[in-house]
Amino acid sequence: MSTPENIHTEFHRMLGRDAKEAQLKQRGHVFWFYGLSGSGKSTLANALERKLAEQGFVTKILDGDNIRSGLNSDLGFSDADRQENIRRIAEVTRLFLDAGIVVFTSFITPKRELRAAAREIVGLDDMTPVYVEASFETCAERDVKGLYAKAAAGGVKNFTGKDSSFEAPVAGDPDWTITTDKQTEEESLNQLLEKVLPLIKNS
Ligand code: PPS
Repeated sequence: MSTPENIHTEFHRMLGRDAKEAQLKQRGHVFWFYGLSGSGKSTLANALERKLAEQGFVTKILDGDNIRSGLNSDLGFSDADRQENIRRIAEVTRLFLDAGIVVFTSFITPKRELRAAAREIVGLDDMTPVYVEASFETCAERDVKGLYAKAAAGGVKNFTGKDSSFEAPVAGDPDWTITTDKQTEEESLNQLLEKVLPLIKNS
């Protein structure tokens, strides 16, 4: 995005990301967890954060319901609002990354275009999209928040997977896939840890 008129961004006097990462003894990276409501995004992000904290890593989780109750409380679930939701979150995520922090986001991010836009803002090499895969039926069975039952009764507008579409990744996308309806939480966590650690360890 171009700089607005009369705005002069200034970064050169600030302590850079390299210095922050050296302080924290880690490399910052963004793991962008996405998938249907109830697929396990937040569960995995929270479990991973705790595991990494045991090893001294400094992390931050950004989560859909939390961001939508504050920063993005003016946004709903139309395509345009979801696009603005993800744009703002990607900008915030980049600020954490600039501070050398390992970020886990947990947002449905239903379209490939939205994931690509987020990656463009964060930085192509700095963000790994992680598809938390579980079928609509499985998520509806789990129905942790009661949203699937409410949506089935017509009580949720633009519900993802019902009247608002969700696009899975396609071959060639850089995304990782964690299939939570075919493995235990511990298996998913171990699979993630193995892939995450090499990207955040300070060599
Ligand atoms: S998006 O598509 O990325 O902008 O959505 P996100 O910011 O992740 O918000 C998803 C959470 O909002 C709740 N919620 C809904 N989800 C889907 N569709 C509709 N219509 C809807 N209305 C409210 C729901 O709790 C989502 O949280 P998660 O963690 O995904 O279950």
